[in-house]
Amino acid sequence: MMMKMTSLLSVAVLVFLACGGAEGRNMRRLDALEYTAMNCRAHSASLTDFGAVGDGQTSNTKAFKAAVDQLSKFADDGGVQLYVPAGKWLTGSFSLVSHFTLYLHRDAVLLASQDMTEWPALKPLPSYGRGRDAAAGRYQSLIFGTNLTDVIVTGDNGTIDGQGAFWWQKFHGGKLKYTRPYLIEFMFSDTIQISNLTLLNSPSWNVHPVYSSNILVQRITILAPVKSPNTDGINPDSCTNVRIEDCYIVSGDDCVAVKSGWDEYGIAFGMPTQQLIIRRLTCISPYSATIALGSEMSGGIRDVRAEDIVAINTESGIRIKTAVGRGAYIKDIYVKKMTMHTMKWAFKMDGDYKSHPDNKYDPNALPVIQNINYRDMVAENVSVAARFNGIAGDKFTGICMANVTLGMTAKHKKYPWTCTDVQGMTSGVTPPPCDSLPDQGPEKISACDFPANSLPIDEVQLKQCSYSMSYF
Ligand SMILES: *[C@@H]1O[C@H](CO)[C@@H](O)[C@H](O)[C@H]1NC(C)=O
Ligand SMILES: *[C@@H]1O[C@H](CO)[C@@H](O)[C@H](O)[C@H]1NC(C)=O
Ligand SMILES: *[C@@H]1O[C@H](CO)[C@@H](O)[C@H](O)[C@H]1NC(C)=O
Ligand SMILES: *[C@@H]1O[C@H](CO)[C@@H](O)[C@H](O)[C@H]1NC(C)=O
Ligand SMILES: *[C@@H]1O[C@H](CO)[C@@H](O)[C@H](O)[C@H]1NC(C)=O
Repeated sequence: MMMKMTSLLSVAVLVFLACGGAEGRNMRRLDALEYTAMNCRAHSASLTDFGAVGDGQTSNTKAFKAAVDQLSKFADDGGVQLYVPAGKWLTGSFSLVSHFTLYLHRDAVLLASQDMTEWPALKPLPSYGRGRDAAAGRYQSLIFGTNLTDVIVTGDNGTIDGQGAFWWQKFHGGKLKYTRPYLIEFMFSDTIQISNLTLLNSPSWNVHPVYSSNILVQRITILAPVKSPNTDGINPDSCTNVRIEDCYIVSGDDCVAVKSGWDEYGIAFGMPTQQLIIRRLTCISPYSATIALGSEMSGGIRDVRAEDIVAINTESGIRIKTAVGRGAYIKDIYVKKMTMHTMKWAFKMDGDYKSHPDNKYDPNALPVIQNINYRDMVAENVSVAARFNGIAGDKFTGICMANVTLGMTAKHKKYPWTCTDVQGMTSGVTPPPCDSLPDQGPEKISACDFPANSLPIDEVQLKQCSYSMSYF
């Protein structure tokens, strides 16, 4: 195994030397890495072995592609790792392969290219029917993968910088031919780990696993200006068995947005997001939600368990967004141990979130919203406790809230709750909730609890991996 890798490396080294690597400043370096991952790799190479230049100016798209291409030959022989050392590595979109780890040194920064020719276009997602920004299609994400098994993007808190201002300006100016790229997207993939990274200024959504399963997102810091357009943090979309934990997100849109396709396209595709764990999330998003469910939810969303959530200066805590035409369901949602400071709405449910892909949606496709549970929460400086608007003729049912104490702002409204077309119960909730959520008394304080079973993604064991990297 190592023989093969050595020969691969020496080929790369020879090429590199022939290109002027003998200039003395290119000293061989040795880095030792030790970290936990779903899988360790038998083969490893550095980006610099493929002619990359970390000056923040030179495009490294070709180097990334060559590295992935070369390494892919060993992927089935124990897996491969691409090491990105300290430096500023400008690059356009590139794709990963199966049994692959991309590892970013703590001082490695991937800088997203602003050369439009470095962003291939993809067809719209089948469950959406059209792109979000432009009908035609979408630019492939900076780090992309489709139909993969076992792919890891990690590092010692290395950085991926989307240089989003360039894209936000085009978006606001209506100058986009295709939908903006995301930072990391995996489609139709299984066994994905995204961990120990800082993501800055994404052109649009940051992390988008779609049509995928067995996904671990851990210790990600996501930062974007709070007024930047659609810079959602993590968007599991038609995914099963997902665990998001220990993330810190400041963004211009929802910190976590759980999705599953849009109106008639999402209904036809029919792939839910289910078995999702979110824990130890800190969110700052003054114009959006901490955790949003929807608005695209036409494949269904079920069995979501969120706990130990902190929201600061955020528009809403948990928000359900849906509309006539979406169909499907949002059900079996559990949230506990949430702390909120300075919120517009602590809780929100919108049955009239009207954006549609086109006017072909089915007006009879009514979403079923049921079994929504919130318990053990404290908030302070809240303007509106809850705004729960179901759909006329399609009540949102089984709403359960217990042991929730909302401290209101000095000039909050006289009736801090609005409820229409919803039904459920409460116990130990202050301020006293609306009539459609009657208080069942203190003996029901432990209602709305989590299911007792654990989810398969919680059983995933990480391995201790160690490498010693020699590179230019
Ligand atoms: C990520 O950080 C955790 C906690 O510091 C550490 O245990 C783990 O090994 C790190 N993983 C990587 C890939 O550096
Ligand atoms: C990826 O998998 C999907 C779903 O199984 C399939 O429709 C598609 O053709 C595959 N794409 C490639 C590039 O193999
Ligand atoms: C990772 O880097 C970000 C940005 O510099 C920083 O805010 C965060 O605290 C770092 N995380 C860790 C675990 O070092
Ligand atoms: C109520 O919630 C608080 C946290 O917000 C928790 O410390 C307390 O134990 C809960 N009480 C009950 C009866 O569950
Ligand atoms: C309370 O919320 C208001 C906005 O409603 C904000 O202006 C004020 O700074 C907050 N106060 C504290 C103490 O956080």
